Amino acid sequence: MLAAIATLRIRCQQALVAAFGPELADADPVLVPASNPKFGDFQANGAMGLAKRLKNKPRAIAEQIVAHLQVDDLCEPPEIAGPGFINLRLKADYIQQQLQGIHGSDRLGVEMAKQPQQVIVDFSSPNIAKEMHVGHLRSTIIGDSIARVLEFMGHDVLRLNHVGDWGTQFGMLITHLQTVCPEALADAEAVDIGDLVTFYKQAKQRFDEDEDFKGRSRDAVVALQSGDETARKAWQILCEQSRRAFQAIYDRLDIDLQERGESFYNPLLADVAQDLKDQGLLVEDQGAQCVFLDGFTNKDGDPQPLIIQKSNGGFNYATTDLAAIRYRTQQDGAERVLYVVDAGQANHFAQVFQVAAKAGWIPDQSEFTHVPFGVVQGEDGKKFKTRSGETVRLKDLLDEAVKRSRADLEARIAAEDRQETEDFIQQVAETVGIGSVKYADLSQNRTSNYIFSYDKMLALQGNTAPYLLYAYVRVQGISRKGGIDFTALGKNAAIHLADESEFTLAKHLLQLDEVLAEVAKDLYPNRLCQYLFELSQVFNQFYDRCSVLQAAEPERTSRLMLCDLTARTLKLGLSLLGIRVLERL
Ligand code: ARG
Repeated sequence: MLAAIATLRIRCQQALVAAFGPELADADPVLVPASNPKFGDFQANGAMGLAKRLKNKPRAIAEQIVAHLQVDDLCEPPEIAGPGFINLRLKADYIQQQLQGIHGSDRLGVEMAKQPQQVIVDFSSPNIAKEMHVGHLRSTIIGDSIARVLEFMGHDVLRLNHVGDWGTQFGMLITHLQTVCPEALADAEAVDIGDLVTFYKQAKQRFDEDEDFKGRSRDAVVALQSGDETARKAWQILCEQSRRAFQAIYDRLDIDLQERGESFYNPLLADVAQDLKDQGLLVEDQGAQCVFLDGFTNKDGDPQPLIIQKSNGGFNYATTDLAAIRYRTQQDGAERVLYVVDAGQANHFAQVFQVAAKAGWIPDQSEFTHVPFGVVQGEDGKKFKTRSGETVRLKDLLDEAVKRSRADLEARIAAEDRQETEDFIQQVAETVGIGSVKYADLSQNRTSNYIFSYDKMLALQGNTAPYLLYAYVRVQGISRKGGIDFTALGKNAAIHLADESEFTLAKHLLQLDEVLAEVAKDLYPNRLCQYLFELSQVFNQFYDRCSVLQAAEPERTSRLMLCDLTARTLKLGLSLLGIRVLERL
């Protein structure tokens, strides 16, 4: 529909100029989607705002515009309503012809971005030696979907996993393991990630309680950071362990991601500090090297510093992010960098972006954006935890979703007295289970917190993955039942719309380009979810009202084309959310 909107906007502008002279070339016709389908498809509300300037009544202005408006190739004769709204209704011919166009297009009529950009999406980014938790799940799912949409629009996307692989946790962990499990530091096979997490917790406890341990841990960090052979070897083994566990999750979630963790920037940190110093931005404050921030104050109202280098010489999380910004613009040539990280880090990003801008590391034409998201909550409204109060392990969460989706499926198979192979059951359970977890997350406005509920996400009704997957399966069923090969519908097949539900479905199908353009710009995948949910609804309404296989020609072919377009749109849309479709459920 983007093409229609653009054309109508130009025509309205031309009508304004034709009616009132070239001075009106700058006037906005205020073309918007109609508030109610009763009024048509679009309305031009510009007349109201021009009354003063043209010293005339809005309604009279609207009449003048309409008298000069040439849209008969696209629309029915425009109507004026209320004080001066101009209502526009697309012609059936125009809709049919547009739909015919997208039917013949692999991209379903979605144009590539006119100016492809070099984009980095920084997402997932768990911490080594700690287990990946639900917060990282949100980042992984949302980040992947944003990357998929941008890639589809033709941008060059670098998907970066900024793993926390360089923190003080290694000092504690190495020191602890030296006494309790030295083999873990010599052999990547000796322990698994579960053990590692337990060791980490023990180490943390010793660190907090035991001064001597604390000191030795700090020395171990220094040893590691200064390149000590043994410490480095141990660090590598620990990273390798975690990496394998993370990869198992990424494989299961079908996530493509390039690791470039904090350690990658370690050799660049001193230079970042030096660069800030040379620019006169670095100030010494209680032994630490800092940059003072605008707009951030502490409790006493004093300006707050961002610490670049601690008094002991160590660098911070923020310093690493500064190095990453500089590297991403200067080496990667990034024009747009998106950080899909929980909303709790909003200040961190505002601060590093400010310092990077001051240092001249963010070129004017480039955009650095924190893409925040809320917390996952349990059904009690508190932070999502296991019964015993532990953080939920991602693997357990996915297993549970698949287990439940399998139970639902088995019950259905039994009720319908079907025979299915273990392979089929396994594959459907996994696809629906994982798809439901992803969809439940993506369908929420990402900035809000959301309540995690297996029952809701797996429900067959409502805005859920199973509901959408069913709409897709319905079309596959039509094709199986009628022996229809959708790809063979051919170029001569034509679309004829008659029933109201066909028009509603057709117009919805034409909106994909608009929705994707919006997601690519504003980065809210729930907009795409809402679109696909509504598409499934209008498709089901159409299918309940109009017979397809039983219909006479030319309706039959036309309706098959509507079915095919619906299935292709669902498949494409879901793939951009990282969700796979199934032929049968
Ligand atoms: N590892 C961090 C965490 O778990 C997230 C890193 C996000 N990316 C970044 N460039 N700071 O909170």
